[in-house]
Amino acid sequence: MKIEIKGLQHSFKGNPDREALGEIHCKVSPGQFVAIVGPSGCGKSTFLRLIANLLEPSTGEILLDGKMPVEIAGQRRIAWMSQSPALLPWLTVGENVTLAQRFRPKVSRPRLTSDEALQRVGLKDDLNAYPSMLSGGMQQRLALARILTMDADLWLMDEPFSALDELTRERLTIELLELWRPLQPTVLWVTHNIYEAIRLADRILVMSPAPGKLVADIPVSLPYPRHEPSPEFQQLLLNLRSVLGKNVKEAVQ
Ligand SMILES: Nc1ncnc2c1ncn2[C@@H]1O[C@H](COP(=O)(O)OP(=O)(O)O)[C@@H](O)[C@H]1O
Ligand SMILES: [Mg+2]
Repeated sequence: MKIEIKGLQHSFKGNPDREALGEIHCKVSPGQFVAIVGPSGCGKSTFLRLIANLLEPSTGEILLDGKMPVEIAGQRRIAWMSQSPALLPWLTVGENVTLAQRFRPKVSRPRLTSDEALQRVGLKDDLNAYPSMLSGGMQQRLALARILTMDADLWLMDEPFSALDELTRERLTIELLELWRPLQPTVLWVTHNIYEAIRLADRILVMSPAPGKLVADIPVSLPYPRHEPSPEFQQLLLNLRSVLGKNVKEAVQ
């Protein structure tokens, strides 16, 4: 999905003098994997919620394949994932995925069945388990399986793995790349972690402290998998640290 953002700005009702998101202008091409980094409270989640039509912008325009978010609402072309996997605790793993499928729109795009999606995320043997029986990492895999059955062409990911331990987080980011590659949806990936941003993204957008504006747009053209000790990785880290150092007083990991 192609994204065009023009003069987007947001203040919450009841707080009109305090901007939650500064003015944002940007374009994202279909299939691009974009990481968004910035200090807490700068408006990253607000930005994603505006795109997902969960909020109405105070000013500015968002175009998704040329249409306003409200025009494509209900088509389930946008998948959402955050730290909380939003599973229904009284349904099994299998039921959580099939339930999501029941609300699919009738479109002709090819997509995975529930079984295929569970197989792809490594949960086929846990079909009859309940979410509370799964580890945090497995719960996020289940949330990913639901997304795979939707065949959305925009994935909005708001720090989805940040509540997980470091090892699980690293493994899941690698798995996510494997899932993303054949489908090539556009991804906006919010993270605090600049290593994660470099490991995953084609492009890194850096936001200033609140109210967030874009202060840098850094292309990443390294082949996957990207290893931290490589000189190119280290060079990107330096670039990012320098942009963050100039613009973001609060330390970002
Ligand atoms: N529902 C809300 N009502 C009022 N203010 C909000 C609401 N959600 C977020 N904010 C404020 O908007 C600003 C940006 O928040 P948020 O988008 O959550 O930042 P981030 O995701 O970058 O940490 C913060 O000052 C936050 O307090
Ligand atoms: Mg947030």
